[in-house]
Order: sequence, then structure tokens, then C-alpha cells
Amino acid sequence: MKYLTHGNIEGVRDSMLAKLDELMTFSLEEDEFLPKELMKYLAEYSCALNREIAVYITRDGEIVDVCIGTDCDVELVDYRLRRDAKRLSRVRCVHTHPNGDGHLSDVDLSALRIFRYDAMVAVGVLHGEPTWIQTAFLEENAEPVLTDPVRWYRLDDSELLRRIELSDKLVGHDETDVVSSGRERAVLMGIESVSSLEELARLAETAGAEIAGSFLQKRDRPDSALFIGKGRADELARECQALEADLCIFDEELTGIQMRNLESILRIKVIDRTMLILDIFAGRASSAEGRLQVELAQLQYQSTRLIGQGLVLSRLAGGIGTRGPGESKLEMNRRRIRERITELRRRLDELEKQRAIRRRSRERNQIPVVALVGYTNAGKSTLLNTLTGSDVYVQDQLFATLDAVSRRMTTPENTEYLLTDTVGFIRKLPHTLVSAFRSTLEEAALADVLVIVSDGSSPDMLTQHDTVEQVLTELGATEQKRIEVINKCDAADPPPAFPGAIMVSAKTGSGLGELKAAIAEVLQESCESITVFMPFSKGGELSKIRAMGRVTGEVYTDEGTELTLVIAKADKEKLLRRYGEEAFR
Ligand code: GTP
Repeated sequence: MKYLTHGNIEGVRDSMLAKLDELMTFSLEEDEFLPKELMKYLAEYSCALNREIAVYITRDGEIVDVCIGTDCDVELVDYRLRRDAKRLSRVRCVHTHPNGDGHLSDVDLSALRIFRYDAMVAVGVLHGEPTWIQTAFLEENAEPVLTDPVRWYRLDDSELLRRIELSDKLVGHDETDVVSSGRERAVLMGIESVSSLEELARLAETAGAEIAGSFLQKRDRPDSALFIGKGRADELARECQALEADLCIFDEELTGIQMRNLESILRIKVIDRTMLILDIFAGRASSAEGRLQVELAQLQYQSTRLIGQGLVLSRLAGGIGTRGPGESKLEMNRRRIRERITELRRRLDELEKQRAIRRRSRERNQIPVVALVGYTNAGKSTLLNTLTGSDVYVQDQLFATLDAVSRRMTTPENTEYLLTDTVGFIRKLPHTLVSAFRSTLEEAALADVLVIVSDGSSPDMLTQHDTVEQVLTELGATEQKRIEVINKCDAADPPPAFPGAIMVSAKTGSGLGELKAAIAEVLQESCESITVFMPFSKGGELSKIRAMGRVTGEVYTDEGTELTLVIAKADKEKLLRRYGEEAFR
């Protein structure tokens, strides 16, 4: 037999559930706020069970829902039609406190505010009888206002009904609604470390969230159903409610099942670190390639998690975790997702081919590439700007740059090179992103010189440096010459010790001369300027030689042509073998 009464019904006898279901046939008169008969009924069953019971009463006097909780709390039900509905829900929540205490708790008050109940009523019950009653209503700015607790038989129904009317007028004009302020309130949950959680907070802020609270629960192995374990999840649900959170962000990747289970306990949107990063990337990608890459990553991520969707309470309301080029496709089925992934891969392959052509022409011109790589927010874009006097987007946010940006530079010795800013690296960089952004990230892997930029002002500098090393290894970028740079030295007190690194501040400009000199030196080490002479009889060879380096001079003499060019040392060796010492001037 299936009962309408729900919640913590485990161990509750069928006869009891049937009795509680009967409550739903109860109707209140127009002038009744909470009839004494109903109070007594609730007191009797709540005490018998030693659990809280909540009933929900509409303005028409119907009881629409009955829910059983534990001895100290009860799941509260959201009756609003839309997540951002400002108006009252037209339902009042009456629930018992089996310890006899008729005072409303902070959690009760924040539920009143979030769920926009007409009223929140606590009925203290003891030894099968009601004791004290306290009621709260929302007033201006959706602030709860409490009545004094009264003995249960002294409840003034008409006054309380009048307060609902008043509340209705005041709350409808509320301008401070959480959602209308445009920022979602996020609760963060981590299991690794404080620093990882702090980084998650920066990511969440970058995505536009306001941090309502953050919790760390060290765990070696995640719970397969809920990630954090049932008890902790219940506690988190209460915390989220008290903090008036709109979403909860986990610092690790969740499975579809974990996400679905957590959402049904927390009753707010749940997302994980990967979704958060994908969300930020979705907002940032500006090039066509970047957008396709993000969409591909989002779909790949989603295709393994379809199970987690559909039950999501507020996923349809949009916001963090739901944005992106693939936004309208959140509801796609598996087959459509597969087709779209194939299509995106095909388009990205085409773009990759064009990129390869550009790269080859660069190689032909022998312009060396110097890539700025580093952890997100290390100051790479700022460094590119100050070094080149250009104007790349700089923000104190994570992943401000998604698309690789290149600028032409010249060393004092007149060697030209391309300075490239790349996407920032981050701990636990989602795998789908690494593969989707492979071609962008490979800009770094294919560079001739890597300038590894670290944030000297961050206490996590060394861990961040390790992450950068790991990602570079993953991309196969291990062979190039490297220059280590510690940036933000103006804000580091004292600057961290890192043997061999150049200390700079992109902000004040200090150390930049030294960095430029180091880049020039490294480029110089691998290149050389040579002058080759080709008699007219071998004029046909000139085009081959020109293609090997960057021509800086060409002089025609009576006997032939003198070609001066900057060339890689390895290529000079080839020329020597082919034409002999006598060709060199
Ligand atoms: P991603 O695009 O996320 O990879 O970041 P990024 O490495 O390109 O960092 P970006 O240049 O956007 O700088 C991040 C923040 O650090 C900005 O607020 C900069 O103003 C600040 N910043 C950069 N260089 C310095 C510096 O030398 N000193 C100080 N104090 N702040 C700096």
C-alpha cells in the first residue's frame, strides 16, 4: 500500500501512516488559521513517533502535504512554481517540535524566507499534547518577523490570518530577492584540502557566485552514492538551508548518480568542479574554435551523466553549471549528443588543419615561438601586455584568457620571435577539457622556448608549479628550453626562493629587462647569423637556403650572391656538410 505521507517513514506502522494520510481530507474553515483539533492530532502522532511532523495548508484551507521528519528536523517542501518567484507560495507550514519547545529555529526562519511560505508555525508537543506555539511571517525585504510564543489554546486565528494578508502585500514588492540580485549563493564542499577549497571559491566567484559558506570533510574514499556519506549529506542540507544557498559546489568530480542523490537530499542545484570550470570556459571562449572546444567538452561530460538529469530541481532555471554554447542542448538525448559530438569533432579537425598550415608557414619563416605558460591567474596576460605594449584581456579572475594570443617581438640582436599567451593550467583540470583544448594547449607543446610563469605572491606557488609541470608532461612538452619566472614580486613578501628563476613584476615592470635578455639569450643560443656565398652557377640553391632561415641581407657581387640569414644551429651544420667551409663568409 502506498501512502501519501512521506519523509522519514522508515519503521512507521501502516496504521499510523493511514491515520496521517487522513489529515489530507481535513479542511479548515475560512476564519481558521490552525484549529485546535488539528494541533491535538499532530501532537498525538508526533509524540507517538517521537518525530517531527509537518503539514502544509493552502489559503483555501486544504492540507496538501504531510511529511514526517526525525526527532529534530523535517524535510521542508518547496511550493513555489519558479525558483525566482518573489511572491508568497500561498501555503503555510505547520510543524511540530517533539521536545515541547514551541520556538522557531534559525533553520525554520530561513526556510520561510527561501520557500516563501505564507507563515511558518512551530507547535511544541510533549506527552501527546500541544504546548507552546510560535509563528513567523515575512515582511519588507522578505525579513521574517516573529510573534511571541503563546500557549496553544490562546492562538488568535483572525489576527494570524490578517498577518498573512499583510505579508502578501509587503513581500510582493521585495527587491532584495537573492536571485534578482543576479548572484547565486553557493555553498562549497571539499574533501581534499583548504587550499583546494579556496581555489574552488575563486572559481565560483569567477563564475559569478556569491560564497555563502564552505565546508571541508577529509575523506580518503568517496561514498559511491553520495560522495560524502548520508549523515554528512543530511547535515549539509541543513547548512545549505540555513545559509540560503541556491547551489552546492563539490570540489571533486561527481558521478551522475551522486549528483542526483545529493540534489534530492539538498534540494538545491548540485554541481561539481568540472561543471564549474566548463561553465567559466563557456562564458569566456570567444573564438569560434574556443566555443566549439567548450561545447565538445560539455557534451562529452554530459554524455556520461545523463542519468543525473531530469530530476534536477532547478537545472531548468539556468545559472551556474548550465551555461554554454551547448546550453539549449541540455535536454538532448544520447543519440543527438553522439551526433553532435561527431559534428563538433569534424569541425574542430578542419580548424586544426588550418592551424597546422599557419604553423608550417611560421616554421618556414623560422620565427621561433616563445610561449608563456603557467597556472591560471599567474599574470601571463599582464606580462604579455607589459612586454609587448599590447592590450590583452586581464582580470583578477581565473581563466581570463582562453584563446592563445600571439605578438611579434624582436630581440636587441634583431631576432624576431612570437610571444604567445596560453590558457592557464589548473589542478584537477578536467580530462574532457584537456582533450578538447588539446590543440590550443599544444601551442605550448610546440613552442621553441617555454617561459614558465609562477605567481610569487601565492602561498601555493610550488604546488601550482608542479601542476604546470604535470600538464606539460602530459602534452609532451618536455624537450624545450625553459625560463623560470616568478611574477608578482611586488606583492610577495619576501619573494619565494626558486633557484635560477628570474624575479619580475609585470605590474611595476621590475625584472622585465632581465627577462627579455634571457629570452634573447636562449634564442641566440639556438640560432646563429651566417653569411653564405653562392656563385651564379649554383643560383638554383639559393631558394633552398632562404627557406632554412630568416634572411636579413642579400648582396649581389660580380661572382654571385651573398646571403645573410639567421638560422638554427642544427641547420647551419647541414649547410656546412652540403656546401663545405668555402661557402661561408
Ligand atoms: P589566466 O588567463 O587565468 O590564465 O590568467 P593570467 O595568468 O593571464 O593572469 P592575468 O594576467 O589575467 O593576471 C591575473 C591577476 O594578477 C590580475 O588581477 C593582474 O592585475 C594581477 N597581476 C598580474 N601581474 C601582477 C604583478 O606583477 N603584481 C601584482 N601585484 N599583480 C599582478
